[in-house]
Amino acid sequence: MKIEADLLVENASELVTLNPSPPATDPEGKLGVIPNGTLAAKDGRIVWAGPSGETSKQVSLLPQGKELDATGKVVLPGFIDSHTHLIFAGTREKEFELRLQGASYQEISAKGGGIKSTVEKTRRASKEDLVQIGRKNLDSMLSLGTTTVEAKTGYGLSTKDEIKMLEALRDLGREHPVEVVPTFLGAHEIPPEYAGKTEDYVRLVIEEMIPAVAGKKLALFCDVFCEKGVFSLNQSRRILEAGKRFGLTPKLHADELTPLGGAELAAEVGAVSADHLLYISEKGMEAMAEKGVVATLLPGTAFFLFLGRYAPARRMISKGVTVALASDFNPGSCMTESLPLITTIACTQMRMTPAEAILGITLHAAKALGREKEIGSLGTGKQADLVILDIPDYRHLSYHFGVNHAWKVVKKGRVVWEAASSHSTIRVDPR
Ligand code: NIG
Ligand code: FE
Repeated sequence: MKIEADLLVENASELVTLNPSPPATDPEGKLGVIPNGTLAAKDGRIVWAGPSGETSKQVSLLPQGKELDATGKVVLPGFIDSHTHLIFAGTREKEFELRLQGASYQEISAKGGGIKSTVEKTRRASKEDLVQIGRKNLDSMLSLGTTTVEAKTGYGLSTKDEIKMLEALRDLGREHPVEVVPTFLGAHEIPPEYAGKTEDYVRLVIEEMIPAVAGKKLALFCDVFCEKGVFSLNQSRRILEAGKRFGLTPKLHADELTPLGGAELAAEVGAVSADHLLYISEKGMEAMAEKGVVATLLPGTAFFLFLGRYAPARRMISKGVTVALASDFNPGSCMTESLPLITTIACTQMRMTPAEAILGITLHAAKALGREKEIGSLGTGKQADLVILDIPDYRHLSYHFGVNHAWKVVKKGRVVWEAASSHSTIRVDPR
């Protein structure tokens, strides 16, 4: 009996499954590349992946099924952006200029710019406005190969406005092909009406916001910006523990601008990930490796804020920490939707290999969302989320940067985006 399929992606020069058998320990092997590979899916799930030469013996395409010829192309799992601030009103290009003139991210924030200025605009926006903004951002991400996006609140900072953001995220997830994974980040900043009263705001988050968010089942994760001048280690702990009591899994913005021990806290509270980590301590790395906390590195932010340092990715990998990569897409510290660009920065600035970078935006990113059984790799039974890239070799994703290589993007077995026209090559014959 052959396996029935309603989608065949055939003859890829590399089918990068991230599902090696037998399991590999080195990053190259961990990619589970099948040269000249074909993938079959049915009803949105992968039913077979193997060498193209075996397809006709193993798989039969249903009459109404779709065939995609991926000759000369690379097939990867759809990219997973596991840390974004997807919806925000307004933009902050003026701050970009101020930073170029020498102001720091913290100085701009202290003068009422930064997160607070986005909060002001986001509070004025309706839920429908936010859905429209989010739709445009998701369209852009999808066109670059992203099929799942984690999205944080944190520009509302009142119960009403945080719920408005979460409802916008819920509505977006229902209408858009990209899956949206919502995270409550009420503790992103201290809103102006609580200036000098951080403790009162922490109580509002714990006593009012978390129960309201959890009661409406609008978020899966609870995140905190644990940073000097924002939320202390102790306040972060209390917020994350409160989230846990209401079924929200902890995540943490940790050790981004100063060394505070955020990585250790993430391990202590059983966070699924700790993110940023430019100033992570040796102890923090060990604690994260031991507890299986994913390190979500956001090198686009270090690049865009020109912080002069990056998270110690090589050290973390050598200590056995699982490293994911994400965009941190937001209007202040990293205004890009492009995960391929993030992989290039990760390779050039943190010395990750192209293979490690691919793991970072697929399987490891799925782990940072607790979704690795469903997405992030191309094994049988997994969701058929794919990006087909018009490149000859997976390394080109990071190596050939600043252009979009996506040819088609498939979500749950359906083509949901395709390039306007495939590249035409004008050949000039040498005389
Ligand atoms: O992850 N660090 C805090 N939050 C964001 C920045 C958000 C903003 O500037 O609007 C970050 O970098
Ligand atoms: Fe962030």
